[in-house]
Amino acid sequence: MALLDNLIRPNIRELSPYTSAREQFLDYGLTLLDANENPHGPIGLQANPYSLHRYPDPYQRTVKNKLATIWGHPAQGIVLGNGSDEIIDLLIRIFCEPGKDEILITAPTYGMYKVAAHINDVAVTEVSLTNTFDLDAVKLLQKVGANTKIIFLCSPNNPTGNLLSGNEIVSVLSGFDGVVVLDEAYIDFAEEQSFVSKITQFPRLVVSQTFSKAWGLAGIRLGVCFSSLEIAHYLNRVKPPYNVNQLTQQQALLALDAREDLAKLVQQVRIGRELLSEQLQQLDMVEVVYPSQTNFVLVKVKHPEQVFEYLIEHQIVVRNRSKVHLCQGCLRITIGSALENHKLLDALKGFES
Ligand SMILES: Cc1ncc(COP(=O)(O)O)c(C=O)c1O
Repeated sequence: MALLDNLIRPNIRELSPYTSAREQFLDYGLTLLDANENPHGPIGLQANPYSLHRYPDPYQRTVKNKLATIWGHPAQGIVLGNGSDEIIDLLIRIFCEPGKDEILITAPTYGMYKVAAHINDVAVTEVSLTNTFDLDAVKLLQKVGANTKIIFLCSPNNPTGNLLSGNEIVSVLSGFDGVVVLDEAYIDFAEEQSFVSKITQFPRLVVSQTFSKAWGLAGIRLGVCFSSLEIAHYLNRVKPPYNVNQLTQQQALLALDAREDLAKLVQQVRIGRELLSEQLQQLDMVEVVYPSQTNFVLVKVKHPEQVFEYLIEHQIVVRNRSKVHLCQGCLRITIGSALENHKLLDALKGFES
């Protein structure tokens, strides 16, 4: 574990984690009297195909083995979370000493890095992206201080929708002694490859992905963290024992078995995105529709507050990002179904007339 000796919080390094008998005994042919479950359950179900009266596998081995085969990344270097939001929180908790350490993030970016840091009493330094929403590695690295433990990068970035330049990400990886977390929540929509294969070359790189976006499974809450075996080891020590429930694990297996459909889902979103972008651009109120590698578009409009409120009055909810750094005047709009996109455009035309 030498690589991380100075990075892992001392109390986490020395932690005796919670252990459950279920970690060793997964075979349901055994008589399991170790975990105070109710053999007469579950309540409210006619059938019990997934043994819901039992605690799930705390290490989700079947799901991870499948992910490992698909990704060519060792299963022991994969940690699953209750959404990738849980992964973000766990990473901050294993590396950052409350009241002392800090993380670096870009501005703008996904809001949870800052919230998770503040919940853990960890300081946050924000470094602006360029005017084209790209990463400036030199500028970012200049802000690294003695207590900077993690740099969070998001590519494609939320809320701007663009990929960060691969070369800039590599420069950050090469120039920083701490941990770089690359959030690839939207990578399946993008034209670039994931950085997962670069973890061997950069062992302090952590890549986070999710089933919530391209996979269309936001409701099951499943985040996937790819890392070195060392980092995964510490994440496993800190995570709640049964953080990914049995229904989620079963649904993830079904999704992975049907993964040939992912390209179709992504293509549907891409077609919708190009069509919606084109039609938005034709509206007078729209100043810019920024190019997107995700399932949303960032749109600069003339009267963001009024448009936002007007849409709410028409039962359409978008994200008002007009006060966010570099996003003045912008709304972030998710690519919906054809019907939803049509409703949005109709409403916006009504605003103009
Ligand atoms: C960049 C980014 N990362 C992570 C998440 C959270 O994903 P999850 O649903 O897996 O918690 C989101 C959700 O919007 C996101 O935009």
